[in-house]
Amino acid sequence: MMENNKRKGDLLIENIGELVTVAGSTRRGREAMRDIRVLSGPASVLIRDGKIVYAGPAADCPQVEPEVERIDAEGHCVLPGFVDSHTHLVFGGFREDEFQWRLAGESYMSIMEKGGGIAATTTATREASAEELTEAALLHLRSMLRMGVTTMEAKSGYGLDKETELRQLEVAKRLDEMQPIDVVSTYLGAHDIAPEYKGDPDGYIDFIIREMLPLVKEKGLARNVDIFTEKNVFDLEQSRRLLSAAQDMGFATKMHADEIYPLGGAGLAADLGCLSADHLLKISDKDIDKMAKSQTVSTLLPLTAFSLMDDYALARKMIDAGCAVALASDLNPGSCFSCSIPLMIALATIYMHMSVEEAVTALTINAATALGLQDEIGSIEEGKAGDVVILRYPSYKFLSYHFGMNIVETTVKGGIPYHN
Ligand code: NIG
Ligand code: FE
Repeated sequence: MMENNKRKGDLLIENIGELVTVAGSTRRGREAMRDIRVLSGPASVLIRDGKIVYAGPAADCPQVEPEVERIDAEGHCVLPGFVDSHTHLVFGGFREDEFQWRLAGESYMSIMEKGGGIAATTTATREASAEELTEAALLHLRSMLRMGVTTMEAKSGYGLDKETELRQLEVAKRLDEMQPIDVVSTYLGAHDIAPEYKGDPDGYIDFIIREMLPLVKEKGLARNVDIFTEKNVFDLEQSRRLLSAAQDMGFATKMHADEIYPLGGAGLAADLGCLSADHLLKISDKDIDKMAKSQTVSTLLPLTAFSLMDDYALARKMIDAGCAVALASDLNPGSCFSCSIPLMIALATIYMHMSVEEAVTALTINAATALGLQDEIGSIEEGKAGDVVILRYPSYKFLSYHFGMNIVETTVKGGIPYHN
C-alpha cells in the first residue's frame, strides 16, 4: 500500500529493557486497549530492508552479520512509532491574533462568522507558493520526528478552489518523499464552503463530486476524503452525499464530527463505515453505542479541546463502551497550533482519564487503523514496517509520568535511526 522509494535500512536494536509491541488484534476497545504486550528485557528488534524480521527475547534473536548497524538501547523502553492520524499540515500564514481573541473570551464560531477562521487561512494559502507551503510544513515534520512520529496524515482544505487544493495535496506528496515521516494525504475540500459558492453549500458539494474527486483520484493525490460536518458548514445530508460518492470512487472516508454542535456526525460515520470520526466533543450516547458496534475509529484530539478551552472528549466512557479510541494532534493554524505528542499524552492521561497503556494504543495501532494501515504499521511485529521509538527511560510509563517532556531518544523509521 505504502510502497515508496524512501530509504530503508538494516538495524539491530539490542539490550532493550522493556519491549512494548502492541502486537495482536488490530481493532481495540475496552480491555484490548490496555493490553499493549509488554516484554521484559533483555529483548532485541531486528529490522531488515526497512521491515521488522524479529522482535522478542534477545536469546532467540537470529544471528546477524557484524556489518549490520547496531543500537544499544541501554535497558531503555522500545515501542512502535507514533502515528498522528489527523493533521492539517499544509497551510499558509498564521492566526496568532485569533488565539489572543479566544483567550479574551471570543468563541471559535464567532471568529469564523466574522471572516476569520478557516476563511482567513484559505486566503493565505491561496497566496502561498508550493515552496512556501513546503518550507513551513517541514518545520513541523522535523519536530514530529523528534517526538517519535513515523507516519502522519495531512489534509487539504485551505484552498477550496481547484488549483490550491491540488497544490496542497502535491506539496503533501513532495513532503512525503523528501523527509523520513510517511505523509498520508486526505482530500478535505469540504472543510468550508468555498467563497465562490457562498450560501450554496449544495452547489459546492456538487462541484466537489463532479470535478474534484475524479481529478484527485486520477492524479493519485489522496487516499482519504474528509468533511467538516458542523452547524453552518455542512449538514448530515450533504456529508452523506459527498462521502458516499467518495466511497463509490474508491476513497476511504473520514469525518470531522460533533466538534462544536451535536449534529450526529459520528452516527453517520458509523453507518457509512468511515475509517474514523474525529473530535467527538459533543457525541451523543446513542452514537457512542453505534461507534462501539462499528469498525469506525473514534479519533480524539485533546490538543484542540485544550486550545479551545472546551471540555475534553469522554474518552473513558467511549473506551468502556467498546469504542476503538485513537489520539491525534489536529495540527492546524486556528483551533490547534500544536502537534505536541508529550502534551497530548499528558492531557489524555491526566484529564481524559485514559491509562498510559490506552494512550499508547491510541497513538499506535488504533491510529494506524484510523488510516487503514493497521496491517503495515502501528505495532512491532514481523512483517510490519521497522518504525520504532527508543525512549530515554526504562518504561513506557514515563510517557505520562515525565509529563509534557519529550523523552524520545531515537526515532527509527524504516530501519533508519534518527537520534535526538
Ligand atoms: O479540525 N474543525 C475544523 N477544522 C479544523 C480547524 C481548522 C482551522 O481552524 O483552521 C479542526 O479543528
Ligand atoms: Fe481537523
